[in-house]
Formats: sequence, C-alpha cells, structure tokens
Amino acid sequence: MAQSPLIFILAGAFFSYILYTRITLYLARRRFIKENGCQPCLGRFHKDPILGLDALKTMNYNSKHHIVLQENKKRFERLGRTFHNRMVTMPIIATCEPENVKTILSLKFKDYSFGNRQKAFTPLLGHGIFNADGERWSNSRHLLRPNFARDQVADLEAFERHFKLMLKHLPRDGKTVDLQKLFFRFTIDSATEFLFNHSTNSLRMVGQEDANNEDVIFGKAFNFAQDDIGTRMRFGALDRFRKNEKGQEAIRICHEYIEKFVDDALRFRKELDHEKKAGSAEDEKYYFIQEVAKQTTDKKRIRDELINILLAGRDTTASLLSNMFFEIARRPDIYAKLRDEVATLGGRTPTYEELRSLKYLKHCLNESLRIHPVVPGNTRFAIRDTVLPLGGGPDGKHPLFVPKGTTVGYSPYVMHRRKDLYGPDADEYKPERWETLRPGWEYLPFNGGPRICLGQQYALTEASYVTVRLVQEFKEMESRDPEPWIESLTLTLCSLNGTKVGLTPA
Ligand code: HEM
Ligand SMILES: *[C@@H]1O[C@H](CO)[C@@H](O)[C@H](O)[C@H]1NC(C)=O
Ligand SMILES: *[C@@H]1O[C@H](CO)[C@@H](O)[C@H](O)[C@H]1NC(C)=O
Ligand SMILES: *[C@@H]1O[C@H](CO)[C@@H](O)[C@H](O)[C@H]1NC(C)=O
Repeated sequence: MAQSPLIFILAGAFFSYILYTRITLYLARRRFIKENGCQPCLGRFHKDPILGLDALKTMNYNSKHHIVLQENKKRFERLGRTFHNRMVTMPIIATCEPENVKTILSLKFKDYSFGNRQKAFTPLLGHGIFNADGERWSNSRHLLRPNFARDQVADLEAFERHFKLMLKHLPRDGKTVDLQKLFFRFTIDSATEFLFNHSTNSLRMVGQEDANNEDVIFGKAFNFAQDDIGTRMRFGALDRFRKNEKGQEAIRICHEYIEKFVDDALRFRKELDHEKKAGSAEDEKYYFIQEVAKQTTDKKRIRDELINILLAGRDTTASLLSNMFFEIARRPDIYAKLRDEVATLGGRTPTYEELRSLKYLKHCLNESLRIHPVVPGNTRFAIRDTVLPLGGGPDGKHPLFVPKGTTVGYSPYVMHRRKDLYGPDADEYKPERWETLRPGWEYLPFNGGPRICLGQQYALTEASYVTVRLVQEFKEMESRDPEPWIESLTLTLCSLNGTKVGLTPA
C-alpha cells in the first residue's frame, strides 16, 4: 500500500508541471497580445469547432466543381478580409490584406516557415530551393541566384528554335487548335534546354510520340509525379498508407533522367579543371547546369535543385500564356493593338531590349497575372508567436495575434480582384488600366520579400517572346470557346478547357 501515495505524488507533480507551463504560456501570451494591441478576429469559416469538417466538405465540393477561387472570393466578402478556419488539426488564418501579406513575406519573414506542405513535395523535390526553409533555403538561394542574371536568361535564339517547332503545329487554315497544350510543350522544351543543356523536344513529337523515347518517358513521368504531389497533399498524414507504386516509379524515372545530365556536367567540370591547369581557354557559352557544377560536386544536390526549378518554371509560364490568350482571343481590339505595337519591329524577331520596350505587351501580361494569377493562393506556417497588423477587432483594423503553429493562408487571387483596390471593373481583363496603375503589395503574382520568384525575368522574357512571335505570324486570332474561363487548379492555375482558337496567317 506504500506505493499508491508515491504514484499520487508523481501524478500530482506531473499535472502541476503541465498546469504551470500552461499558465506561464497563457500569461506570456496575454502580455504579448496586450503589448501589440491585438484584438480577436471575429470572422470564422468553419461551423464544426473541433475538426472543421464542414469547411473541408465545402472545399472538396468547390474543388470538384472548379469554383475554388470564386467561392474563396465570396467567402472573404462575407466574413471579412481576415478570418479563421480549421482543417482537421490545423488552425488557419486566411487573409487578403496587402499589409498582412507584406508582414508575412517580408517584415516578419523569420517568424514563418513552409510547415507541413513540404512533406508532399519532398519525394520528388528533395530539399531543393522550392522545398527548403531556413539555412538550407538560404544556401540554395545563394547557389542559384547568380544564374538568373539578365544576359543568362535571355537566350532568345533558343526560344526562337522552340517557337519554330511550335509554329508547325499551328493550323494556317483556321482550324481550331488548343494553344494551351502547345504552350506546355514549349515551356518544358525550353526549360529543360536552359537547365540541363538537353531539351525534351516534345514539340518535335506532337502526334507521333515514340513510347520508348526517354525524353517522352520523362515528360510523362514528370507530369505524373507533379500531379501526384496534389494527391499527397490531399491525403496528408494518411498518404503513407496509400499504395502508390506508379507515383514512386515516376519519381525514379525523373531522378535518373536528370542524374545523367548531372554526371555529364560533373565530368565536363573535371575535364575543364584539367585543361585549365594546362592553360587552355574556356568555352564562352553559358550553361546553367555547368555553373552549378562549378560550385558543388554533390550530385543529388544538383539534381534536386534542377528539378525544383523545372517545377517552379514550367507550368507557371505556360499557364500565364494560356490564360492571357484565352482573354485576348475574345478581344479582337486588344489583339489588333498588340499587333500595332509589335509592327514597330518591322517584322524582325525582337532583341532583348526591344522586348522590354513593348509597353502594351507588358500591360497585357501584367493584366493576365492580375485576374488569373498562376499561383493564386499560398501559405506560411508560424514558427513562433507573432502578430499581423490587420484582422483584429469587429472592423478588422486592429492587430491580430497569430499563435505559433498557425497556418496563415493568403490569396493573391482575391487581392487582385478587390474592387476597393482596383475599381468596380476589377473582374475584367483591361490591359489599359496599367497605364496609370502602380500597385504595391496588393499585386503579387511573383511573391515578394526574400523568397520572391527567381525566374520572373526568365518567365516574362519567354512569355513576351512567344507573344510577339505569334502576333507577327498571325494577323487575327479568334476564340473558339463560347464558355467563360473555368479554373483548372493544380499546383498552378490554367484554363480547364484549354485555349481553343482559330488563327489567320499574316
Ligand atoms: C509566370 C511565371 C511564374 C510565376 C507567376 C511564378 C511565381 C512564383 C511564386 C508565387 C513563387 C513563390 C512560391 C513560394 O514561396 O511559396 C515563386 C518562386 C520561385 N520561382 Fe517562380 N514563377 C514563375 C516562373 C518561374 C520560372 C520560369 C522560374 C525558373 C526558370 C521560376 C523559379 C522560381 C524559383 C526557383 C522559386 C523559389 C524561390 C525561393 O524560394 O527562394 N519561376 N515563383
Ligand atoms: C551542351 O550540349 C551540346 C549539344 O548536345 C554539347 O555539344 C555540349 O558539349 C554541351 N555542353 C555542356 C557544357 O554540357
Ligand atoms: C507590371 O508588373 C510588375 C510586377 O510583376 C511590376 O514591377 C511592374 O511595375 C508592373 N507595371 C507595368 C506598368 O507593367
Ligand atoms: C470547350 O471548347 C470547345 C471547343 O473545342 C467548345 O465547343 C466548348 O463549348 C468549350 N467549353 C466547354 C465547357 O466544354
């Protein structure tokens, strides 16, 4: 009987300890909240207070019916510009306030990480730049940043070569064609050439794919592995119980394909080191993979970084082009205005400087990224107690406490369509508005702060080049899709029904 008092004492000590830590945390937080003038946020999406199952159900329904973004926008209009949500065990604060977004991404950058979302990406991406936090991310950013300097990303000759291949698949007899399909091929061909010094050349093989060709196999595996990330995210913690041989096989194929090029680059570097000792001159041309191999010989590291950039850069740029031409194809006046501007080139292919000087073209691209931002929503995870400047109080104008462990979601899509910021015509595609528009954090297609997109110049150069060349080759473009634009939301945002158009040669 001597034992039970001891058990009680231990249990008592244990619970006192828990109580003590809880109370100190509570008091520390109360002080933090007071010091920062935080007030509670009243908007709440979920009605089920424990698991938020009703919110989850709504999200699934919206996803199935391709109305995620428009419903999200309505929700913000109903609940306020910042509100609470919950996904099973995950507390969420959602916001469409530019000041909050600036705080998350820039002012209090160090209070946040990517959080759980990394898990779904890791099998394909490893710990490359797009999927790393903290020190690791910082290293990757240092390693890769110099490779995105202006003259390196402007390989217009390569764009022209791939464009000529695309041109072969554009009907000159007015037959309907889906530009979106071709844009996705164009961007994987040019990105793989840029990154690996080896193009998948998928535009060479439209309609006559050889199932045994390794570039074809890679292209398919990469698409599959990428879609599989979405599935991994939906399954969350349960994903480990999902039988997924096909997904694993796809990842293996992608890794092996890229490793071959890494091996080549490393071998090349060795030879170069030898030659240098012997005093011979270096090749002038710039190779991305070669530059990375100069800085590290870690094969897996190089492979991971390359696949990260391919993922970051391929669908995004193709989606921008697809969404933009979806809008332009139904506006002959905009197409004609673009053609007038491009006519200043006198029919020549553009130089880098000329591309940058085309103002209306830039307005068309900016406007597309405004109403169809290809990364329409994003999240960060609070790694310590922190505070947002807006969202607290009945009017949402006071600071809001963000406890450690909260996921903060922000929506460029909703910000970009706020009528109080962009005017009553915020939902319309109107490039002309950029004649006077000079937005700050309320316009965020490429993210901001230390993790701003590294490939912005590359993407805009590529999209500009393709647009100019298309407009030079065809004097008219007509939409063959009578329906309004419908979202296709995977990792990026494009058009569900593609970009169906008919073309008239110039
Ligand atoms: C229209 C085209 C593009 C858009 C809208 C876009 C948008 C974005 C956004 C929103 C992010 C931030 C993601 C996050 O931190 O959660 C990002 C990051 C990144 N993007 Fe882009 N991107 C585009 C094209 C490209 C291209 C063509 C490349 C490379 C060739 C590229 C490379 C990267 C990289 C490496 C990062 C990670 C940067 C970091 O975490 O430090 N992007 N991009
Ligand atoms: C890049 O590819 C070309 C053509 O396949 C090849 O001749 C050249 O040696 C490669 N350069 C590097 C640095 O890998
Ligand atoms: C277009 O968008 C970029 C950011 O993506 C911005 O820097 C630029 O000022 C915008 N403005 C115009 C006039 O195109
Ligand atoms: C999709 O595009 C086709 C033309 O290829 C068109 O007939 C159809 O109405 C479009 N919209 C939908 C929702 O299918």
